[in-house]
Amino acid sequence: MGEFLARLFSSDFMPHGHCYLWRPEILWLHVFSDGVITTAYFFIPLALVYFVRKRKDLPFNWMFLLFGVFIFACGTTHLMEIWTVWNGTYRLAGVIKAITAVASVGTALALVPLIPQALALPSPAQLRAANAKLEEEVRERLQAEAALEEARSELETKVQERTAELAESIEALLAEIAERKRAEEESRKLASLVENSTDFIGVASLDGKATFVNGSGQAMVGLESDDEAQVEILKYLPPEDRDWFQQHILPALQRDGTWEGETRFRHFKTDATIPMLQHIFFIKEPVTNRRLALATISRDISQRKRAEDALQKAQTDLAHVTRVSTMGEMAASIAHEVNQPLAAIVTNGNASLRLLPKDAESLEDVREAVECMISDAMRASEIIKRIRAALKNVAPEKNPLSLNETIQETLALAAGELARSQVQVRTKLNATSPLVIGDRVQLQQVLLNLIFNGKESMSQPGWQQRELLISTEDAKPDEVTVAVRDSGSGIDPQNQERLFDTFFTTKEDGIGLGLSISRTIVEAHGGRLWATANEGAGATFQFTLPTSHRN
Ligand SMILES: Nc1ncnc2c1ncn2[C@@H]1O[C@H](COP(=O)(O)OP(=O)(O)OP(=O)(O)O)[C@@H](O)[C@H]1O
Ligand SMILES: [Mg+2]
Repeated sequence: MGEFLARLFSSDFMPHGHCYLWRPEILWLHVFSDGVITTAYFFIPLALVYFVRKRKDLPFNWMFLLFGVFIFACGTTHLMEIWTVWNGTYRLAGVIKAITAVASVGTALALVPLIPQALALPSPAQLRAANAKLEEEVRERLQAEAALEEARSELETKVQERTAELAESIEALLAEIAERKRAEEESRKLASLVENSTDFIGVASLDGKATFVNGSGQAMVGLESDDEAQVEILKYLPPEDRDWFQQHILPALQRDGTWEGETRFRHFKTDATIPMLQHIFFIKEPVTNRRLALATISRDISQRKRAEDALQKAQTDLAHVTRVSTMGEMAASIAHEVNQPLAAIVTNGNASLRLLPKDAESLEDVREAVECMISDAMRASEIIKRIRAALKNVAPEKNPLSLNETIQETLALAAGELARSQVQVRTKLNATSPLVIGDRVQLQQVLLNLIFNGKESMSQPGWQQRELLISTEDAKPDEVTVAVRDSGSGIDPQNQERLFDTFFTTKEDGIGLGLSISRTIVEAHGGRLWATANEGAGATFQFTLPTSHRN
């Protein structure tokens, strides 16, 4: 074996050409044929390798490669045939043949089990049929896909539509939530407004049962809880007012839908009555205007009533002052009037004494009596003189005060009366607002007298113009003039002189003291009071007062 391998490539045998006897025609026929076979056999594996590489999908492609190897080996044996024509290298030729044999046997063996499998491979016709079927399937598949695509796009459209709808409804929902929040906030604000109001705010059903009363309202009438408040609305009134409320207020409310006026509430704990200014109305449904409930906003006017009482008292006080002054004035007047007859008594007494015969004894008693009479009359006169002096010296209280303010205060006092008499009041007050030294109450009294006289001069029924103008003016540097001008009946020239006389009056119920008192007061303040007839209708009463420089 070692020798065999060692001599594998040696040509120690007789070349094959000898067998052909070196006859060229046989020799070349063989060489040429073997050459062609070799070329072809070498080409086939190349083609197979190329084919297999290109068609990797083919079943059993390794088989093609195996064929390639086997054919290549066959090719090589033919090549060796050419070589051995001239070289006796039969060992190598044998080895190559052996390799070829192994390759061909291997290929044959591998081919056997492959045959059934190869047979099982579909024939081209089958493949065509299968292909057609496949194509059909593909078509169907494509159709199904198209239908699916259509359905999908339809679905997508629907989904988009639905999404848009959903987005829209979410938006609407959000808007509604925002609106609700706003409404809630508004109603919270309203609720806190109602709760914090100092007024009595209440709601009742249409059949007259209270359903809600705010905190202030409950406190006002002595209720302690919402439950306590839910009683008939009539229970909120003092028993004696309930009939009146039912017979007058409720019908008016039904008729007009609203009612406003003064009523009284009852304190549930103390039973005290509370004067109220009440506004009652229906709560209505916004669109249909259907009445839903009764509601009230009411204000406790106890304080206002107290203020009114205080004003009443102030007016009464003023009237009292007037009476006191009137008494003084009457006393002054009496003193003045009585003084004359007293003086006459004294004079006549003296005359009688002078006339009595000096020596007449029996007349001594008469003389004595007359003397007594004279001295009594003189004493009476003296008393009266002292009263007059005292009255004259009753010095008013003197304080610096703003004249304009005093006028406004007086107008406030007279406002009710003037409104009732339908008198229009205007003021034209000096901007410098002069200060005077004086007695506020007495000056108010002067103004009241002049204002009421003016009002009375326009009081005839049907009087066209009822205007009162009150003005202040700096007439002189240290003096202010107040004028009260009316559009009334004016002054009869006949009476001009007597207007200021005590007890002079042209009125049925007049006393004739107003002007005389006023003049006394003004003069006591260092001023003057006089009257002038207007160019048109009415009269103007004016007075001066010295101004204070102590601002
Ligand atoms: N503004 C005026 N217009 C016209 N006449 C007036 C005016 N003011 C006063 N008189 C006349 O002067 C009179 C006297 O007025 P005075 O105020 O002194 O008394 P009275 O008003 O009559 O009564 P009282 O004492 O009640 O005031 C009046 O009766 C009236 O005739
Ligand atoms: Mg008068």
